[in-house]
Amino acid sequence: MLSYCRSAALNGIDAYDVNIEFDISGGLPAIVIVGLPDTAVKEAKDRVRSAINNSGFKFPEKRITINLAPADTKKEGSVFDLPIALGILAATNHIPPEALNDYTAVGELSLDGSVRPVKGVLPIAADLLHRGCKKIMVPKENSNEAGVVEGIDVYPVSSLAESVAFFRKEHPIEPYRIDIEKLFEESASSDLPDFSDVRGQLNAKRAIEIAVAGGHNLLMIGPPGSGKTMLSKRIPSIIPKMTFQESLSVSKIHSIVYGLSQEKTGLILTRPFRSPHHTISNAGLIGGGSDPKPGEVSLAHNGVLFLDEFPEYRRDVLEVLREPLEEGKVTISRASGSITLPANFMLVAAMNPCPCGYLTDPKKDCRCSPLMVLRYRTKISGPLLDRIDLHVDVPSVSYEEFKSKEMGESSSSIRSRVEEARAVQRKRFEGLSIFTNADMSHKHVRKYCTTDEESEELLKTAFIDLNISARAHDRILKVARTIADLSHSETINAEHIAEAIHFRAMDRTYTD
Ligand SMILES: Nc1ncnc2c1ncn2[C@@H]1O[C@H](COP(=O)(O)OP(=O)(O)OP(=O)(O)O)[C@@H](O)[C@H]1O
Ligand SMILES: [Mg+2]
Repeated sequence: MLSYCRSAALNGIDAYDVNIEFDISGGLPAIVIVGLPDTAVKEAKDRVRSAINNSGFKFPEKRITINLAPADTKKEGSVFDLPIALGILAATNHIPPEALNDYTAVGELSLDGSVRPVKGVLPIAADLLHRGCKKIMVPKENSNEAGVVEGIDVYPVSSLAESVAFFRKEHPIEPYRIDIEKLFEESASSDLPDFSDVRGQLNAKRAIEIAVAGGHNLLMIGPPGSGKTMLSKRIPSIIPKMTFQESLSVSKIHSIVYGLSQEKTGLILTRPFRSPHHTISNAGLIGGGSDPKPGEVSLAHNGVLFLDEFPEYRRDVLEVLREPLEEGKVTISRASGSITLPANFMLVAAMNPCPCGYLTDPKKDCRCSPLMVLRYRTKISGPLLDRIDLHVDVPSVSYEEFKSKEMGESSSSIRSRVEEARAVQRKRFEGLSIFTNADMSHKHVRKYCTTDEESEELLKTAFIDLNISARAHDRILKVARTIADLSHSETINAEHIAEAIHFRAMDRTYTD
């Protein structure tokens, strides 16, 4: 007897339908799974057999052939356990076969028949309607993820027996839905470290504010203990909230890497702040592995990638950042296929000016030879540096400043300026698929960053004297656009350009 059940699998963060066909025939009892299953899928037969037997049904002692169509793409993981069990029970008339027709089912089974959470439910549910299906059965723990998707009916189940009873119409299940608007309203940022803890460092704080307001990349350079790490850790407290669309694309990536069953909300509501250690590999940063998985650059999508002790990362690891920094996405090619993942993040890097750290410190002598300094700096290549919009010196804080009773400006007041500047940008780019000044292409820069004569003159001087590249020229204009937005100015004037050029300290050092 033949039966069918519908499920889904992932290619990168995009889902595709998997139609599972079952054929039960006479002959020696055996289960054969075809359609390029990996080990976890092959092992489904043992889990399914026990789950069916332990849920009060009898596993058929016949020859069962299961085909996962399309047969030419590799299927992985345990998401097919539940649909396989349902299909077998339909083929043996425990469930009316037509009852499964309109449903997509995903879920892992325990030997006792309970349904366990799986990864990637959000991307599977997100474009379910586009794939011509409206109803999805998911493990109860994954119901929040699927529940945020509009226009579909989500049926959470906690056991195979519950699922079978539902399809037999013995146990109704209310479709599960989450009120997204309420979710976003309630998502107040929790107690993050606050900028008011940082004494002095006004220049660095200003650079951070500009960088966050426009989504620009930032490099902080300063002696040990000057507060670079401290400043960076406070960036999450001033980043604006994500929109639903931004949150959805971030959540999809996190859903396939970690699963979101631990998340109370089903969506990630705060922008990611990723700070991988400097021993990270290429694959860890960019993504990859035998079956390509997102790396830190994609996990930081729409958020911040913080690389502390920048020159300590292997040079070849840093070089792979070039593509995502330019394109906002990353393509990973492996034998099993290539996938493109979003990777539009704000890079924040921190470093000392030399190996001993005190080159720029007026109070301490630097012990490094010029060659040592050069070698240290060249760990960060010119092309990579070119992609970093703001370079800021973070000097040691003076005793008076450090001991001052005056608190620094609070994160909430900085954030309100950042939010305002972001609102200006959202309005400017309405209808385009970009959100921040940093996202602008050359064409956008020409359109939105017009300059007066005085500014043009300044840019020309910088171009010739600092020997900046055409890319850096555009980046200066984008930063100037953000500075103008922060000061509610529609036009970019010389003051804005001058400040943007001022924040390219490393260009000056490189031309020394
Ligand atoms: N401006 C400041 N205001 C208040 N505390 C500060 C400031 N700068 C540094 N500190 C104190 O010094 C500690 C060390 O600072 P931090 O780790 O940020 O230095 P760093 O610049 O990252 O140094 P390194 O180059 O060694 O990594 C902080 O945890 C904080 O307690
Ligand atoms: Mg540090």
